[in-house]
Amino acid sequence: MHKSVLLNETIEALNLKDDSIVIDCTLGYAGHSSEILKKIKNGYLFSFDQDVEAISFSNNKLKQIGNNYEIINDNFVNIKEELSKRNISKVDAILYDLGVSSPQLDEDYRGFSFHQNARLDMRMNLNNTLDAYNVVNTYSYEKLVNIFQKYGEEKYSSSIAKGIINSRPISTTLELVEVIKSSVPEKYKREKHPARKIFQAIRIEVNDELNVFEKSLKDALKIIDVGGRVCVITFHSLEDKICKKIFKSVSELDDNLKKLPIIPDEYLPKYKVLKTIYPSMDEIKKNNRSRSAKLRVIERIG
Ligand SMILES: C[S@@+](CC[C@H](N)C(=O)[O-])C[C@H]1O[C@@H](n2cnc3c(N)ncnc32)[C@H](O)[C@@H]1O
Repeated sequence: MHKSVLLNETIEALNLKDDSIVIDCTLGYAGHSSEILKKIKNGYLFSFDQDVEAISFSNNKLKQIGNNYEIINDNFVNIKEELSKRNISKVDAILYDLGVSSPQLDEDYRGFSFHQNARLDMRMNLNNTLDAYNVVNTYSYEKLVNIFQKYGEEKYSSSIAKGIINSRPISTTLELVEVIKSSVPEKYKREKHPARKIFQAIRIEVNDELNVFEKSLKDALKIIDVGGRVCVITFHSLEDKICKKIFKSVSELDDNLKKLPIIPDEYLPKYKVLKTIYPSMDEIKKNNRSRSAKLRVIERIG
């Protein structure tokens, strides 16, 4: 089962009121959504997920808490459009808990894990046409090297891409793991699992994770009301860099403006970065998945 990461810290950071309107962009197994719903008896919760299995489980869980919620079966990249369909223009709190859930990783048929054998898939949305099989078996050498470098920061990107091209067709996760292992030096295999970064890169490519997150977060900052907060839990440096860069760009004064003796109100930043929170040692011991998590919080102040 999925253990929610930074649960209490996130609920506190969202600063919920009894009547808050909240968006959980990543419903998953409703760990965060359940706690949010308990706090907003006179408010409303919109929870996004693109995974029908997660939605079906979580709907049953949320029903037992209240009926003031709606699950939106869509990619959170469409946050602005989905809310405007419902005539909502401003909300009080928005949460992203990025990545895949534990059940997605553990269900061997989803093909996310390099420990379990499955057809190469890695789609969060099972209706998408691009899957890991397409990426591995149809992308050019140059395109593979590019995604392995950009989304995996893998230093053996070229030799792994060459290994893949020479071993096609590759149908399963464990076949891919073997190709990766035979494409990297012995010493590298003894460090961390040699397939880790390549699987991350393929997953990001299949789900277009970074572009989707960047667009959605920019829209979220427009939707959040004054006094409201956006909380983002990231699990790797690529996601975190995007979040940090966007938060910085909206919360800091432009360098040219800094030189002015008096800054007109309309140029003052409209957002304030509040804090970055890490899991405690105790949480890391209980839930290994939390070890790389980071929670960033920003508030709209104007
Ligand atoms: C880490 S889990 C969330 C876990 C949840 N906070 C909990 O405590 O149970 C991430 C979830 O977000 C979903 N997800 C990831 N990217 C998404 C996107 N772009 N649009 C919609 N859902 C997404 C995944 O399908 C997954 O169920």
